[in-house]
Amino acid sequence: MVNRISIVGLGHVGLPLACAFAFKSFRVIGLDTDLEKIKLLKEGEAPIYEEGLQELLKRVLEKGCLKITSSYREMIEESDACFVCVGTPSNPDGSVNLKYIKEAIEIIGECLRRIDKYFLLIIRSTIPPGTTSNVIKEIIEERSGKRLGQYGLCFNPEFLREGKALHDIFNPDRIIIGAVDEKSGKILLDIYKKFYGEPMPPVIVTNPINAELIKYANNVFLATKISFINMISQLCQHLPNADVKVVAEGIGMDKRIGREFLNAGLGWGGSCFPKDVKAFLKFGVEMGLRLKLVESIIEINESQIENAIKLAEDLVGGLNGKRISILGLAFKPGTDDVRESRAIRLIEELLKYNVRIKVHDPKAIQKAKKVLGDKVSYCKTVEECLTDSDLCILATEWPEYKELNQEILKKYMRKPALLDCRRLYNPEEFKEIKFAAIGLGPRK
Ligand code: UGA
Repeated sequence: MVNRISIVGLGHVGLPLACAFAFKSFRVIGLDTDLEKIKLLKEGEAPIYEEGLQELLKRVLEKGCLKITSSYREMIEESDACFVCVGTPSNPDGSVNLKYIKEAIEIIGECLRRIDKYFLLIIRSTIPPGTTSNVIKEIIEERSGKRLGQYGLCFNPEFLREGKALHDIFNPDRIIIGAVDEKSGKILLDIYKKFYGEPMPPVIVTNPINAELIKYANNVFLATKISFINMISQLCQHLPNADVKVVAEGIGMDKRIGREFLNAGLGWGGSCFPKDVKAFLKFGVEMGLRLKLVESIIEINESQIENAIKLAEDLVGGLNGKRISILGLAFKPGTDDVRESRAIRLIEELLKYNVRIKVHDPKAIQKAKKVLGDKVSYCKTVEECLTDSDLCILATEWPEYKELNQEILKKYMRKPALLDCRRLYNPEEFKEIKFAAIGLGPRK
């Protein structure tokens, strides 16, 4: 029974996983090549924000269940199975950049050459279908000189939401194991049996290609659901008294559809959906297929930015010379991550007009500064952000923004006007000021 686990890449996926395994009494060794990050982690500081992560990290370090290192040799010697969680960013053409994963696998392969034990490699990074059995397997065998059976290999996708990663690790909908051979699949299944005990979450053990496809199809389907409702939202805006929120409630009650991921807004952002959807499209092209549905959902996602700009122009009679307050910069609430944030995309578009922009976010200001620099003014409070403004745009639906009401807007803004781009507010409660929202038809 494998009890010594290692994790390569201590980012949004790897660090919560390392802490969770350590919490479940596995002996865990976590590796990262970023020495700044290693230093922080050794001091017990989580370099990213994740619900419950900071507390758990401190706890498992104090208990001595988690060791942090930058040495591959140490990692391989002190573990029997390794989860590879390094980033797989996009190339400029949308295809997946496998540089980091290849580098990690090369070094692991070389370490395996010098060690005489069975070692299981588990790939968690999102990679194009075919990569595990071809690229990764080839690199390990070439570098280690070993054959399958002397080492094991699985692709085991993650379905973690940022901000809720620990919750999702402890309560998964299912576990997908794409095993290169039977032995590898069995060992990984045993690891999860030890982790979860009874009742076990549902498990599918399959080949790597299906597991790789499941990961992409999952994210592309969720992005499709969002783009679908955003398409309906555009239609609603042309129909008197229509409201996309009610439509989403109605169709969401059909169990075959489900209510989740039917929130209309600025569209999908973050470090996963945009990257994975584009990579999937590119993968189709490489297979000689044009995935038209995927092309369309990207188009709809882009058009929600233009849609929001048009709503803003109509609401305040043109943007020229306007002062705009933006509430929310993170790509979604509950994280400080601004990668591919729709709020940032909206700001970049708005900056093409002659406008002045003030921004607020409960957690993402530091990260936003690295992207937006001095093009906008950063505010510590919502009130400061609203002061003397002509238009307030809600761009990320942090729960604390729900407290905003028309009295507050009237008190601080030069000319109170609110554009709700995430359908956080009840339009009935903003009748005394100018109000517009994505997916809300003209009031008649
Ligand atoms: C997503 C998936 O939900 C995870 O299952 C997956 O593991 C992860 O990508 C990944 O591939 O690693 P995440 O990027 O953290 O997780 O964010 P989501 O909560 O899925 O939201 C993605 C984007 O869609 C956000 O910009 C969010 O604002 C937007 N969204 C979500 C909507 O516009 N409407 C909705 O109804 C739901």
